[in-house]
Amino acid sequence: MYMQQHTLVDQVINSRHSVRAFKTTPIETQTIKDILTVSSRAPSGNNIQPWKVYVVTGQKREALIQKVCAAQTEIFTHPEKADLYQESFKYYPIKWTSPFIERRRENGWGLYGLLGIQKGEQDKMQQQLLRNYQLFDAPVGLFFTANTILETGSKMDIAMMIQNVMIAAKARGIDSCPQAAWNPFHQVVAEVLDIPDDEELVCAISLGYADESEVVNQLQTPRVPVEEFAIFYD
Ligand SMILES: Cc1cc2nc3c(=O)[nH]c(=O)nc-3n(C[C@H](O)[C@H](O)[C@H](O)COP(=O)(O)O)c2cc1C
Repeated sequence: MYMQQHTLVDQVINSRHSVRAFKTTPIETQTIKDILTVSSRAPSGNNIQPWKVYVVTGQKREALIQKVCAAQTEIFTHPEKADLYQESFKYYPIKWTSPFIERRRENGWGLYGLLGIQKGEQDKMQQQLLRNYQLFDAPVGLFFTANTILETGSKMDIAMMIQNVMIAAKARGIDSCPQAAWNPFHQVVAEVLDIPDDEELVCAISLGYADESEVVNQLQTPRVPVEEFAIFYD
């Protein structure tokens, strides 16, 4: 049975990509529950299942978008206020080195290139950044938190859960975009969603049906070949 299914699983993994323009078509609540249920089969150290997920739609979604877009706009107009919005853990390195810096640039300019954004066009970059906080128009936002007593390993566990969510969604024709962009706005998100003080925002996911007519969704992201990242010993 498994021999026959690997092509199907590979197909779903290969077809998932980050979607940054969604249709407003809603997703059935039962479908979201099904996706989260199967995704919670993710492994976790000692099976502690450290994930907690806030599923945001409707008016809560509107309120959240409004507040976080306002906060991001405040930072854009008053950069000194950026200190008010700090992520609780560092997702990216402080100092970028090769080969990561080149890959990051390739990705960033690939996206901006599609959108016709050129170097120095700060207003257009800000507009694209704001798209993150509009969930790229996706009808559903998933906000993953971890209890603050947990360590880095639990974030690994949650990341496995997150990948499961994106794959289980894709297998149902639903697209996604994982987003670290929300992390600096943890306090605002916590306020709107009544997230307890002992939880921190780990990652958000926009979830919905891709708007295939939007050029931003044509971004193709390369991967380095297996020979470059895997070392085989015998
Ligand atoms: C944890 C995580 C956070 C990410 N945060 C963002 C984000 O805030 N905004 C965004 O547009 N893309 C974000 N991405 C998407 C990456 O840019 C994307 O996964 C990468 O370029 C590979 O492209 P693909 O997902 O289409 O295969 C994030 C990806 C991951 C795994």
